[in-house]
Amino acid sequence: MKLLIVYGTTEGHTRKISEFLKEEAEKSGHKVEMFDATLSPPSPRGYHTAIIAGSIHAGNYQTSIQHYAREYHEILNNMKSAFLSVSLVAASQDEESWKELKEHTNTFLSLTGWTPDHIEQVAGALLYTKYDFFKRFIMRLISKRSGGDIDTTRDYEYTDWDQVKGILKKLEEM
Ligand SMILES: Cc1cc2nc3c(=O)[nH]c(=O)nc-3n(C[C@H](O)[C@H](O)[C@H](O)COP(=O)(O)O)c2cc1C
Repeated sequence: MKLLIVYGTTEGHTRKISEFLKEEAEKSGHKVEMFDATLSPPSPRGYHTAIIAGSIHAGNYQTSIQHYAREYHEILNNMKSAFLSVSLVAASQDEESWKELKEHTNTFLSLTGWTPDHIEQVAGALLYTKYDFFKRFIMRLISKRSGGDIDTTRDYEYTDWDQVKGILKKLEEM
């Protein structure tokens, strides 16, 4: 398949996930093009499949992917597509937080008019060493409240890479 990946990222982890997906898809013989949503990505027209990836910050995904999905929702709705949602809640088992996460995803999708064939909730990362003082302070506080990791001298990656790989399999089987 000719696959398009468009991603939004704030601290870089969704880019890392998108790069991993690209490499995995190429290993399986697919032709892949990947774009940062802030850098005028092309229309999805002409691709067989599209994956749009973005991460949640304070309940919202990047506006760049929102603009992209809204602009091209009609084309996206007429091809095979998947939304890859990256968050910390996806690493948790808390039912209430998961309910909120799904609401954020549904709000995002309804604002764009895009109805992806598949939605994957993927756990992101806590990149304490890359945050500025304020972000580090806030994220430690949030993490502590939910019983999460609080050593700010290191980073934590919760992404299940097999799960990410599984998205390609699901799209191939559609
Ligand atoms: C300031 C800030 C706010 C965040 N808010 C949320 C949130 O509301 N819900 C959530 O599940 N994760 C939240 N996260 C976690 C991010 O989604 C996670 O770190 C993800 O890996 C970021 O991906 P990116 O590096 O591609 O931006 C937040 C992270 C930061 C730094």
